[in-house]
Amino acid sequence: MVELQQIAVGGRTTTIRPATPADLDALEAHYQSLPAEDLRRRFLSTFWPRRSFIERWLGQGERGGLVLLALEAGPDGERIVADAGFALVGSDVGEFAMTVVPDRRGWLGPYLLDVLVEQAHELGLSVLTAEILASNAGMLSLLWSRGCALRPSQDATVLEVLIGTAGSTPTWPADDPHPRVLIEGPVSAWPGSTLAGQGSHAVLACPGPHAGRSHRCPLLDGRSCALLEGADAVLVALGPTAAGCDELLAAHATRDDGRPVGLRRDLRSRAPDRLGRRAFHLDPMASPAEATTTVHAAIAAAGRSGGRQAEARSSR
Ligand SMILES: CC(C)(COP(=O)(O)OP(=O)(O)OC[C@H]1O[C@@H](n2cnc3c(N)ncnc32)[C@H](O)[C@@H]1OP(=O)(O)O)[C@@H](O)C(=O)NCCC(=O)NCCS
Repeated sequence: MVELQQIAVGGRTTTIRPATPADLDALEAHYQSLPAEDLRRRFLSTFWPRRSFIERWLGQGERGGLVLLALEAGPDGERIVADAGFALVGSDVGEFAMTVVPDRRGWLGPYLLDVLVEQAHELGLSVLTAEILASNAGMLSLLWSRGCALRPSQDATVLEVLIGTAGSTPTWPADDPHPRVLIEGPVSAWPGSTLAGQGSHAVLACPGPHAGRSHRCPLLDGRSCALLEGADAVLVALGPTAAGCDELLAAHATRDDGRPVGLRRDLRSRAPDRLGRRAFHLDPMASPAEATTTVHAAIAAAGRSGGRQAEARSSR
């Protein structure tokens, strides 16, 4: 577990350490120093957080989570220049958030996120999630470059993003026993996404093999992808001109794993014959309920997912 790290950059020394309840005043002062737009990005509101909220955030370490602070010594004493932490929200899932003061951006955000991910992994978490404003280009760029997945969100202005704590691809949160539908492409491309989380299926979307990621898509290199391995059905919803679309279809055809592969109408003619009976077609005009029925039928026909549901029930 991280105790204390000191990093010297540009003639300044930054100390990173876990937060304690004694940091309440300093963290409140840090949040009060942030511009309104940063508050909106961090708290999805322009109000300063209440002291009781900050107290609870600082106590996450006692509830299986973690909060890290980055501090710098100055003429008026030590000041917080960044915080990053997560709250435990599932057996292997943490919900994270972070802030960096404007005059220390450029390296501290990515560095602190790396430390947080490493610590989450050490604590046995496999996934970190965050609610990010769709307009928060800086944070999204940071997460995109790591390799992330999106979960359907009720509010189009907020994206629910997942990153893994090991490797360049997130995994499926362990607690959800429902059939898992992986969308390759926009999360809204499949009408059934709107019914995700309502007790019938789980949905994650991978933005695609070339969507701003710094690691190459493992599938295109013949390696395994945790998102795909954990999915009961995969829906290829990339546009036919999207970079990597043909390679992706070829990669699915090569894997003889019995997993059903749903295809956009305009990809039908591009799909290799080897996909055979695993391929089924996605109707863009289907209602959410109809789209869900089609995918559930494909999953049932392939004999998938029953095992995991039984496993999850017996371990409760
Ligand atoms: C998000 C945040 C923590 C990132 O930390 P940081 O130290 O600024 O990180 P960086 O400066 O390396 O920026 C991260 C990436 O965003 C890019 N970026 C920064 N500002 C950007 C902008 N306005 N538009 C597009 N990209 C931007 C950077 O180029 C970098 O991308 P790269 O890794 O491909 O070079 C920091 O900006 C912050 O505190 N924002 C306010 C609070 C917040 O948004 N928290 C996240 C929600 S919980």
